[in-house]
Amino acid sequence: MERTFVMLKPDAVQRGLMGQIVARLEAKGFRPVAMKFMRIPRELAERHYGEHKGKGFFPGLISYMTSGPVLVMVWEGDNIISVMRGMMGKTNPVEAAPGTIRGDFAQQTGRNIIHGSDSPESAKREIELFFNDYELLSYEACNKVWMFEQAQTPS
Ligand code: RTP
Ligand code: MG
Repeated sequence: MERTFVMLKPDAVQRGLMGQIVARLEAKGFRPVAMKFMRIPRELAERHYGEHKGKGFFPGLISYMTSGPVLVMVWEGDNIISVMRGMMGKTNPVEAAPGTIRGDFAQQTGRNIIHGSDSPESAKREIELFFNDYELLSYEACNKVWMFEQAQTPS
């Protein structure tokens, strides 16, 4: 099973959208592994978005990401990294399809409410940046036989 890092950005928190977004991931059958409500220190925000350092939008991105509390999470599921990117929709909400999180809840790139890892390498790096090992929980999912063909069906 694959893991990804998801962050509900300050605008998602301020607009009261956390519950609706988490509900979509739960309804999909993805499993929460870790969650933390926090204010990101500037240095951590700069490391998280390090690939964008030097770009014109970087200062605005960092001030946006540090402007209020965020909900950082790790979720687990079948091919979750790419499936989650699909559920989020395109970076620019104008181009994000209806039915996606950004397509349904956001209007501008600079206020696009959610982050999700874009590759297995990014997922590993971002999970390690925000969580300690002991914060990543493993537990038996009671519904797994109803979601995964490989899991044994009840007799
Ligand atoms: P994210 O990393 O937040 O999941 O978003 P993404 O992969 O879809 O997009 P990325 O290219 O990594 O951009 C990171 C975030 O920077 C802001 N941004 N603003 N004004 C602009 O041109 C611009 N471009 C990017 C967005 O908040 C974007 O999600
Ligand atoms: Mg990105």
